[in-house]
Amino acid sequence: MKIAVVGTGYVGFVTGPCLADTGNHVTCVDINEKKVEMMKNGKVPIYEPGLELIFNRNINQGRLKFTTSLADAIADARIIFMALPTPPGGDGAADLSYVLGAAADIAKIITEYKVIVTKSTVPVGTADKVTAIMKQHTNMEFAVVSNPEFLREGVAVDDFMKPDRVVIGTMDERARKLMGELYGPYVRQGNPIIYMDERSSELTKYAANSFLATKISFMNEIANVCEIVGADVDMVRRGIGSDDRIGKRFLFAGIGYGGSCFPKDVQALVRSSEDIDYDFKILNSVIEVNEIQKKILVEKVKKYFKGDIKGKHFAMWGLAFKPETDDIREAPSLYIIDELLKAGATVSVFDPEAMNNVKALLGDKIAYCDDQYEAVKDAEALLIVTEWSAFRTPDFDQLDTLLKNKVIFDGRNLYDLQKMIDCGYYYNSIGRKIVEHNG
Ligand SMILES: NC(=O)c1ccc[n+]([C@@H]2O[C@H](COP(=O)([O-])OP(=O)(O)OC[C@H]3O[C@@H](n4cnc5c(N)ncnc54)[C@H](O)[C@@H]3O)[C@@H](O)[C@H]2O)c1
Repeated sequence: MKIAVVGTGYVGFVTGPCLADTGNHVTCVDINEKKVEMMKNGKVPIYEPGLELIFNRNINQGRLKFTTSLADAIADARIIFMALPTPPGGDGAADLSYVLGAAADIAKIITEYKVIVTKSTVPVGTADKVTAIMKQHTNMEFAVVSNPEFLREGVAVDDFMKPDRVVIGTMDERARKLMGELYGPYVRQGNPIIYMDERSSELTKYAANSFLATKISFMNEIANVCEIVGADVDMVRRGIGSDDRIGKRFLFAGIGYGGSCFPKDVQALVRSSEDIDYDFKILNSVIEVNEIQKKILVEKVKKYFKGDIKGKHFAMWGLAFKPETDDIREAPSLYIIDELLKAGATVSVFDPEAMNNVKALLGDKIAYCDDQYEAVKDAEALLIVTEWSAFRTPDFDQLDTLLKNKVIFDGRNLYDLQKMIDCGYYYNSIGRKIVEHNG
């Protein structure tokens, strides 16, 4: 099938190559000329495991193309995916200007029936808005489909190729058939394609992300209680996670959720609920808990140094909002760095993939190191912010010689408490007992 993908960010750039990989001919279009040039030259613009292989394979086999021309991209396409940004507007509601703008542009140039698919995360009623705006610009037949994307950065290729489920929101029979045909190869193992109306589909995505964010904030509050009463959040997690009704996943306490989706989607569901005079009380609390949790590591640092960290130097391991991605949007690391700098401290950082993105944002406000050990040299303490595998079993002997003090603040609970007692560290993690220097 001939497909167009409008927007080549984390979603569009995964969608395009993955759709090409099952034999479709895909043209991806983006307004960012530099990015398109890069992709045309065979360069992958984001870090995502497994993506480069699929990207190269499909370019070489002539099934994947890139352009800045919307007209060229959609000319032959039967299905047009919109994978465009829906950032929070001033009031936290989703800004639909990219989606509606592209829909109008598409409508102006279509000359036959097309299926327009919204992959972006959009509030309930967006399919109606897209339909209305398109009707202002064309007399051609078209169908608007809501097909929310559930991929997780870091495992995006796997999630796209073998999704838990595919949600397709449309009441248009022709579009339903085409979408079913397109997704068939991705659900061969029996995972369902769930068909529904557009509004239910749009809400499904917000409900999924908001539920996951709620799980995270809930566990972070349990962790805070653990610290006060002397319980261990990892034990509590295992205790509750073995109950099928709760499930083992997404129960890890930490330093708050980040990334480009959870913060904005929870906020957008709250705002769109306000528009219908509904006060989404749980989600307001989820947001509040997360705001506090993002800064909890700095609070721990300040408490340890008795409120005075001016002139002190800290090491930070991890910048990306989670491992296996270079994405730093809404990453807790940025909030922590900001708080440390504001308090007069200096920071050296290491992240396997996200350093260039942080450098582009913060420039020389912090020092960037070539490896994790260089970052800890002469630091008063090490802060662990992202759970990259390389940080899980460090060479503690080397750390001992480089760090000024044997002090670790771990936002991801990477180390066993007994190990830290044995190594003689002060070790302060999330929702667990503090290991003091003398054990
Ligand atoms: N990132 C994720 O993990 C993820 C997961 C599921 C859903 N989503 C949702 O998918 C949507 C896209 O997210 P993203 O992270 O890929 O965004 P992104 O910001 O990484 O990428 C958007 C791309 O669209 C391009 N663009 C903007 N206007 C354009 C236009 N008129 N024509 C062509 N290209 C245009 C931009 O240049 C950019 O390359 C959002 O609604 C997001 O909430 C994201």
